[in-house]
Order: sequence, then C-alpha cells, then structure tokens
Amino acid sequence: MAVSWIWLTLIAFIATSLLHRLVTSNNKKKRLPPGPKGLPILGHLHLLGKNPHQDLHRIAQKHGPIMYMRFGLVPNVIVSSPKAAELFLKTHDLIFASRPPHQAAKYLSWDQRNLSFGAYGPYWRNMRKLCTLELLSNLKISCFQTMRREELGIFIESLKQAARDGIPVDLSAKVSSLTAEMSCRMVFGKKYEDKDIDERGFKTVIQEGMKLAAVPNLGDYFPFLGILDIQGLTRKMKALSKVYDDFFEKVINEHVRDWDHGEQTKDIVDTMMSIMQSGQTREFQFDRRHVKAIMLDMLAGSMDTAASSVEWILSELLRNPTTMKKVQKELEEVVGLERMVEESDIDQLEYLDMVVKETFRLHPVAPLLIPHYAMEDCTVNGYDIPKASRIIINTHAIGRDPDAWSEPEKFIPERFVGSEIDVRGQHFQLLPFGSGRRGCPGMQLGLIQVRLIVSQLVHCFDWRLPNGVLPKELDMAEEFGLVVNRANHLMAIPTFRLQN
Ligand code: HEM
Repeated sequence: MAVSWIWLTLIAFIATSLLHRLVTSNNKKKRLPPGPKGLPILGHLHLLGKNPHQDLHRIAQKHGPIMYMRFGLVPNVIVSSPKAAELFLKTHDLIFASRPPHQAAKYLSWDQRNLSFGAYGPYWRNMRKLCTLELLSNLKISCFQTMRREELGIFIESLKQAARDGIPVDLSAKVSSLTAEMSCRMVFGKKYEDKDIDERGFKTVIQEGMKLAAVPNLGDYFPFLGILDIQGLTRKMKALSKVYDDFFEKVINEHVRDWDHGEQTKDIVDTMMSIMQSGQTREFQFDRRHVKAIMLDMLAGSMDTAASSVEWILSELLRNPTTMKKVQKELEEVVGLERMVEESDIDQLEYLDMVVKETFRLHPVAPLLIPHYAMEDCTVNGYDIPKASRIIINTHAIGRDPDAWSEPEKFIPERFVGSEIDVRGQHFQLLPFGSGRRGCPGMQLGLIQVRLIVSQLVHCFDWRLPNGVLPKELDMAEEFGLVVNRANHLMAIPTFRLQN
C-alpha cells in the first residue's frame, strides 16, 4: 500500500512539472497582464492568506487593475477597478460567462447541474430562464410575502423577551436562523428541524458547503494531485453531498406523497416538480438530480447572503450611531411608532437604501463573486487573456478604488445623495450582485429580505453594544468563504421602542 502511494506521488509530481513547463512556455509568447513574480510550480499560491480578497486588493495596488496570477497550473486574471470590471462583465461578457470546472462543482452540485457552477451552454441558459421566470419572478416573490411577515413577527417577539430581560442577543446567530427559516419555507414549504438533515444542523451543513467551495483546493490547481486528496477536501465534499442528497430525496418524496395542495401557495419544490412532470423542458433533461441541484442553489443563494448582508449593515449602524438615528427618524416619518414595517413601506425608505448601498460597497458579501471562466483566447485592454483562465472580479477592491470613491475607507451613506449609482449591475463601481449574464438572479428577493429585516430591527429596537464596548471599538474582522461573514458574532442589547 505504502509503495503504491509513493508511486502515485512520484507520477503526480512528474506530470505536474511537465504540465507546468508546457503552460509557462506557451504563455511566454503571450502579452499577459502584469503581476507579481511567482514561484516555480506553485505560482502565486503562497501569496494568498486567510482572506484572499484582502490579499489580492493589496497586490493589485502595486500591479494594477488587470493582473495575471498563476495558482498552481491554473491561470487567473484578477480584476480590481470599475473600468476593468466593465470590460470583463459587459464588453466581453459572453466570452467570460462560464464557470471553471472544479472539485466543489463536481461533488457538491450534482456534476455542475446547478446554476451557480454550471458551465455556459444551452443547459445553463435553459435552467437560468426557468429559475428567473418560474422560481424568482416578482409574482413568485410576492406570493411569499405573508410567510415573511409571519417569520419576522416570531423573530421580533423573541427579541422583545431579550429586551425585557436586558440581555445581549447574538444577532449573527438569530438573523441567520431567521433567513434559514424563511428559505426553508420558500423552497420546501415548511420548516425542518436541524436533526432532519444531520446532527450538525441545517445552517451548519449549508455553510460547510459554502466554505468547502471557497477554500483553495490543491486538487483544482494541480489536477494530478486531486487523487491524493492531500487536504482531505474531496472526502469531506463526498460525505457532505451524501447528506444533501439523502435529505433532498426525502423532501422530494414528501412532496410526491402530499401532492394535492389545493389553494395553498406552491413552494419552489412544488413548482419544479410540476415543471418536471409537465414535460415543458423537452429540449433539456430535467429530472430529480436537477431538482436537487437547483434546491441547493436556492437555499445556498438565499440563506447566507441575506444573513451576512444584514449582519454587516447592523455592524456599521452600531459603529455609526448618528447614521442609526437617521435611519430610525426616517422610519418614524414613513411608518410611525404605532406599527411594524410592512414590505410596502420599503420603497419609501430612501436613506435606508443609501445605508444598504454603502454597506455593500465596503462589505460586499461575495467579494470575489463566483469565479468566471474564459471560454476562448481573448484580448482585453491590449492584454492576452488565455482560454481557460479563471476571472476573479474583486468587488472588495472595486468598492475601495480611490479613483471611483472619495475617502473610500469611510462609511458615508450620504455620498449617494443625488447619485444615480445603484446595486443592480449597471454601475461597475458597485457590484454586490455581479453583472451581466452571470449576475445574481435572486437580487430582487435578496434586496427585499435585507431591507425588510434591517428596517424592522432598527424600527422596533434601540441597540447598544454589551460590556461597555464603544461604537468605534466594534471589531469588523472578516471570515472568508464564498460568502464573507463576521469573524466574531455580533452581540447587542435591544430596547423595545414602539408604542405597543
Ligand atoms: C443579499 C442577497 C444576495 C447577494 C448579495 C447575492 C450575490 C450574488 C453574487 C455576487 C453572485 C455571483 C455573480 C457573478 O458571479 O457574477 C450571485 C449569483 C447567484 N445568486 Fe445571488 N445573491 C443574493 C441573493 C440570492 C438569492 C435570494 C438567490 C436565490 C434564491 C440567489 C441565487 C443566486 C444564484 C443561483 C446565482 C448563480 C447565478 C449564475 O451563475 O448564473 N442569490 N449572487
């Protein structure tokens, strides 16, 4: 056994060295974008630490907004300014509209059958159309309004108890449970208990998938090392995919069993099952594997992103009490102190909208978007971009670009007064949802959830930090994943402020 491992390692090493020579000699003839000096074989992997979005921002300040870096055998182009982002996501969008093949896509998305990791092509285009028109349309989103109101009501009641007791609340954990419950009801039609999926619980299992999909995986960068699974990631991914698969099978079986809902709102699984049975997807295959892959997309897309956005907005409001007071004042004017916020109020909350934008600028929750992939050789801004490069759009850096933003490190929502800049992918200096063909299809739902939860929390309660921590002392450390959360949970003490 030991001997076969030695042979495997030796073969992997020789194959990697040969491929490395081939890649670098091919690239010598090209005019690649500038970048830091790399190491043989490893390339620039050693320059990435715990928070790659911050590391890449720092390196780009030296080497420019379009930068070439090699991670193992894989060429990467790092994009760090609004103008450069426009070239990749608008001017040449079609060429870069695919996703790279990688281990997480293989094991965690039923072999790239989902939307987020799916390669560009007829299958992905059809799936995307189906999701946009059937699952995430404005009509579908408004069907779930009553459910959102109910969940938010339960959530606020639980916080009122903490307010009566005058004790700190773990806002990170609470908000993440709330978005998980909203997502479950929207996708599955009901809440499940944590133990129904795995002893680790629902949120942990979904978050683990997001972390595994973002961790630099040597198997992706040195394909010959994949079989050795030195980091043990493939083993973890296979185990996790079995957990997902067993649970989603159970959900589908329950839906088949309880098929006749009468007038009840159709959840997302119901809608997908109807599509599967109607045969309306004749031009592409749509079976249980696709239903499961899309289920994971909808859950992963809606749970952590919204929770983390709310977490960062509240953190900034707690650090900036004057801004918090201004948001509360706007809510008093629009809603009054006699009732809670309704979804129909949200469009009138202009200052809140600026706070949301400013937080997305400083804390985009998916700071490197999801990697894009060059489907063919292409020239951008005079540089050769080799086919099969991964394109990494660093929105963390773009939001801090001093040519696009004055005093970029400061939290100033007022910078948006009279400005046309929006978050919907038309303004490349602010791209929390990406842009172009691969832009987020759940943006409308995400924005509703985030604005609704933040406005309700700030309208119903005054908040202060526990243990005498001063606003400016609140730590803002980040923990990297496909979605970047706070490294330390946000704790705060609520005081109820409505008149009933
Ligand atoms: C505040 C909430 C949200 C934020 C900040 C967010 C952000 C993003 C970002 C940055 C991307 C990658 C874009 C790119 O690679 O160019 C993305 C893709 C995606 N998002 Fe969202 N998202 C949110 C909510 C949602 C919701 C609610 C859903 C669905 C229920 C969703 C489903 C997806 C899917 C399926 C993709 C992959 C699209 C594709 O590759 O074609 N997202 N999102």
